[in-house]
Amino acid sequence: MNISKFVSPEIILGMGAISQVGESAVRLGANKVFLVSDEGVINAGWVEETLGYLKAAGLQYEVFSNITSNPKDNEVTEGAARYLESGCDAIISVGGGSPTDVAKAVAILATNGGTIQDYEGVNKVHRPLPPMLAITTTAGSGSELTQFAIVVDRQRKLKMTIISKSLVPDIAIIDPVVLQTKSARLTAATGIDALSHSIESFVSLAATPLTEIHALNAIKLISQNLRESVASRTNMEAKKNMAVASLQAALSFSNAILGATHAMVHQIDGLLDTHHGESNARVLPYVMEFNMISCPYKFKQIAAALGEDVTGLSTRAAAEKAISAVRCLVKDIGLGKGLAEVGLKEEHIPTLSRNAVKDACLITNPRDADENDIAELFHQVL
Ligand SMILES: [Fe+2]
Repeated sequence: MNISKFVSPEIILGMGAISQVGESAVRLGANKVFLVSDEGVINAGWVEETLGYLKAAGLQYEVFSNITSNPKDNEVTEGAARYLESGCDAIISVGGGSPTDVAKAVAILATNGGTIQDYEGVNKVHRPLPPMLAITTTAGSGSELTQFAIVVDRQRKLKMTIISKSLVPDIAIIDPVVLQTKSARLTAATGIDALSHSIESFVSLAATPLTEIHALNAIKLISQNLRESVASRTNMEAKKNMAVASLQAALSFSNAILGATHAMVHQIDGLLDTHHGESNARVLPYVMEFNMISCPYKFKQIAAALGEDVTGLSTRAAAEKAISAVRCLVKDIGLGKGLAEVGLKEEHIPTLSRNAVKDACLITNPRDADENDIAELFHQVL
């Protein structure tokens, strides 16, 4: 057996879990907390609620919310400067992937210096980070659990993937009550992001028994709950199950990494500022088709986890069902339209393909993919 490592934060999961934030921050040794969030989350009331718990625990705080979806390098630079000026000694994010990734990137610059570009790639963070706690408001990105931070380089117009075990937050808080305030469209997009995390990490070259079990259960939960969660803001059973699915998908991909879907989607998001989950919905089925011959038996397992009846089928025929089931799910929740509609053009493909093969996520894709293969896939998703 090869040596593998499995990283995870302390996970606080359940209805009302957000109320644990004050006591948790105190346990991490915080005196003054740097709270990273965004306007949408502030308007939904979750920052105010969090600050109430921090005040009750006797903590001081500074709020930083000058960030956009698909957060940019300049926002991280500003956040790090604010952190250092403010005298804070811990970082809390309240939000989806964007505030969480900014919080991680601010933490890197706060103790390691330089620019965020210096840390692109794998294991470039060398000094310890401030204590970090992440409260998620989406069931999808999984950033509250992972060793990933994704930040847009505005000059190169791409998303940088930063992977380091130091980026795993100390504590992750996942509260299904908080998920109720998401729109149907965001629920759909973040749910497909979680599906993409679980499928990509399940077939990843770095998958281990510890990651595979989480990935398969996440796929099963998503197939049984995402439609229902999109259909109703108040279906708490579906929200709870999607929260667990997102959590398990993140445990899997944080440790097994991802594949060609994310390597391609990072380029699309960086160029067009598209929603990450919506780009995943378009790209994932095509990458599954491309990858299928690398591990047909694993695709058969995915089909079964998606609820397909694979009894009596050949492995090849069962594997095909995984791809058609994903296409059906994506269609049912209103996603999967061509990327030409959001501005992707033929002329973008050479640059996108060149950058995608440099993305750290491609290293663990189960089928070898060169620039020409990736360009062909981009043509398909147009
Ligand atoms: Fe993702």
